[in-house]
Amino acid sequence: MRSLDEFAKEKLAELERGSLRRTLVDTTRVTGIWTLRNGRRLLSFSCNDYLNLTHHPAVKDAAIEALRSYGVGAGASRYVTGNHPLYAALEARLARLKQTDACCIFGSGYLANLGIIPALVGSDDLVLIDELAHACLWAGARLSRATVVPFRHSDVGHLEVLLAELRERHPHVLIATDGVFSMDGDIAPLHALAALAEHHDAWLMSDDAHGLGVVGGGRGSSFVRATRADVPLQMGTLSKALGAYGGYLCASPATVDLIRNRARTAIYTTALPPAIVAAAIAALDLIEREPAYAALPLAKAQAFARAAGLPEPASPIIPIVVGEAAAALAASALLEEHGFLVTAIRPPTVPAQTARLRLTFTAQHPDDEIERLAALVRTQVLASVAESAAAAQ
Ligand SMILES: Cc1ncc(COP(=O)(O)O)c(C=O)c1O
Repeated sequence: MRSLDEFAKEKLAELERGSLRRTLVDTTRVTGIWTLRNGRRLLSFSCNDYLNLTHHPAVKDAAIEALRSYGVGAGASRYVTGNHPLYAALEARLARLKQTDACCIFGSGYLANLGIIPALVGSDDLVLIDELAHACLWAGARLSRATVVPFRHSDVGHLEVLLAELRERHPHVLIATDGVFSMDGDIAPLHALAALAEHHDAWLMSDDAHGLGVVGGGRGSSFVRATRADVPLQMGTLSKALGAYGGYLCASPATVDLIRNRARTAIYTTALPPAIVAAAIAALDLIEREPAYAALPLAKAQAFARAAGLPEPASPIIPIVVGEAAAALAASALLEEHGFLVTAIRPPTVPAQTARLRLTFTAQHPDDEIERLAALVRTQVLASVAESAAAAQ
């Protein structure tokens, strides 16, 4: 026991020295945008609840009604006695939105990636993965025991070189990328990736956790251009713009059937609570019915970028790269003093020396508060980043 505690304390001290120790801070979300933290009311720009549906009356009512009718937990895996008809209803809705013929839901986005990738590729195969892909795509890739080779961020040329060199050595190749990158907010070049995948008979998988509901008319990152990008494996989560919880894969019926038979994180786990599934369906209703509302988070992010003098964003996520972890913590503390919750994102979530503020914009953020935040960011945060860069030269 003693050696275990000593080990833990040493590791924690090492993290502390690098300003990389994480702590949990009690935070109560009181509305879709306002939070209570340390007794203060803060306007949050650090939440993935892009459409504020976690607190939408129709979404909450759907969950409450399902909870009263069907109870709290599902009670078992879907394969045993847990397969409530609500799951199939949600899968049909997601497939329709993503223009595929089938869908399979999972307990979370993280679980989806841990299940999907090992179900499709194994030790003889190859996974080519964007270097900035989300941690759970990396985790799924590693769990599959395939050879995992990163390509430079959104660099189609680099991916092409890797495919030319490595494709023939492996029976199957999976290309994995975020659709909207979670820490940078940019969108993957899905059309070009799809063309390469097609040419080399590789399987393209996008993780659209941050695209569903907010880009491409609410359909996600495959739909941002006039023609849909041909992505045969469209994965995502119900926990962000949908305001609920759970993950999904939209794909062909054969692929989904295989996933249902092989993905261990779908089979050997209790099904999602029915109330959460009902909430996700209600959220999809809203997104499909109100495309103008779904467009608001991106419009708000664009207004912020204009006011702060930053490049136009492609999604509601705007990173402000500060560099050192300690500087990102200081910038976050400064914004908190002014009533804004903007959490610092540090390595290993992002690469070394790229610690940042990650701002997320949501439909209900008031315009005057966005302007106040932009002025602060421009005069205090960006000015100090520029000063440090000049001093370093
Ligand atoms: C790109 C991406 N993929 C997957 C996930 C995991 O989704 P979930 O929160 O549903 O587990 C996240 C969330 O953190 C994410 O940002």
